[in-house]
Amino acid sequence: MDAYENYYEGKTVLITGGSGAIGSNLTRAIANLKARLVVVLDDLSAAYEWNIPPLSNVLFVKGSVTDEVALKRVFAVKPNIVYHLAAFFANQNSVDYPQRDLMTNGLGTLLVYQYAQMCGTERVVYASSGCSIYGSAAPLPLKEDFMSMHLTTPYQITKMLGELYANFFYHHYGLPVVKTRFFNSYGPGEVPGQYRNVIPNFIFWALSGLPLPFTGSGEETRDFTYVMDIVDALLRAGYFEKAVGQEMNIASGSEVNILEMAERINELTGNTAGIVRAAPRVWDTKKRLLGCIDRAKEVIGYEPKMAFEEGLLTTIQWFRDNWESIQRDAEFAPGGSSAVQGVVVKK
Ligand SMILES: NC(=O)c1ccc[n+]([C@@H]2O[C@H](COP(=O)([O-])OP(=O)(O)OC[C@H]3O[C@@H](n4cnc5c(N)ncnc54)[C@H](O)[C@@H]3O)[C@@H](O)[C@H]2O)c1
Repeated sequence: MDAYENYYEGKTVLITGGSGAIGSNLTRAIANLKARLVVVLDDLSAAYEWNIPPLSNVLFVKGSVTDEVALKRVFAVKPNIVYHLAAFFANQNSVDYPQRDLMTNGLGTLLVYQYAQMCGTERVVYASSGCSIYGSAAPLPLKEDFMSMHLTTPYQITKMLGELYANFFYHHYGLPVVKTRFFNSYGPGEVPGQYRNVIPNFIFWALSGLPLPFTGSGEETRDFTYVMDIVDALLRAGYFEKAVGQEMNIASGSEVNILEMAERINELTGNTAGIVRAAPRVWDTKKRLLGCIDRAKEVIGYEPKMAFEEGLLTTIQWFRDNWESIQRDAEFAPGGSSAVQGVVVKK
């Protein structure tokens, strides 16, 4: 094991949003690295108890990052490291419910930093977002020093706000915060739904024998990052001293065409229902996304490992292994304003 992995042995770690798509994988990884205790604070608004790793050193606390009683309870264990992943997720959800977005991603994040600062937490790692900083017209590959004031959803605004608060707490109080900007996570652990990412939703519809709704022109690309590569980056961000005060892209560093990805998912799952055109989303103005990962390489030794095709296969296998729970819990609202317009998916 590397030094950054050994570091977690005996540590007390708080993971907000630790039941979610990325958080559940991070919780399992840190618990397996022999942490003394991993406390998960999650209100289960977008996650399911069955997805929380049932390990003896994991303590699940159901509660919100906006509730100070819950925060007092989880900070009472004096965590060495706090991973702040809880968020109102994501773009379309925030367009539909902008006030809830601000409460969780704005106030909730501010409170987590305040409690971490009061408790003398040794490291806070903030889950920022590559789609929330750079706007729609930045030169590719996206580099950390560029930013846009013309963001297209409340989610992008509040995820950036989380970084701005992080910088305030770092400069004013010396809170050791690291800002990790994820690019399009995918992998085991993400239950599909109206407000979820494109890969789990496409796999869900493909395994249900339904056509995949495509909202783009065919030219769009994304930088899809395998969830365990993100988890590895988070473990590194919690350890390396040089990371404190920094912001860094956590991406795969390569572009995947979304239409080709949809075709590949249909092939890999044996879905013959094809692809249908769906209404474009007004806020979805990014043609291409590609993150530059030089800084993360340099600062924390980050190196994405998962090949895209293999990552898709692993994700499809996770769907097959958990199909009953996924079918029960996947939430789609036919006729809603999300990407699933035009497709009726029955639960
Ligand atoms: N998934 C991605 O592609 C991606 C990309 C960039 C950034 N991020 C960020 O990474 C983090 C994790 O993303 P994810 O994909 O695992 O999302 P997720 O929705 O699966 O996880 C977020 C978790 O936070 C919980 N939560 C929501 N509101 C809460 C509240 N008020 N109090 C406590 N818990 C609350 C949800 O129940 C969920 O378990 C988020 O902060 C997200 O903004 C994700």
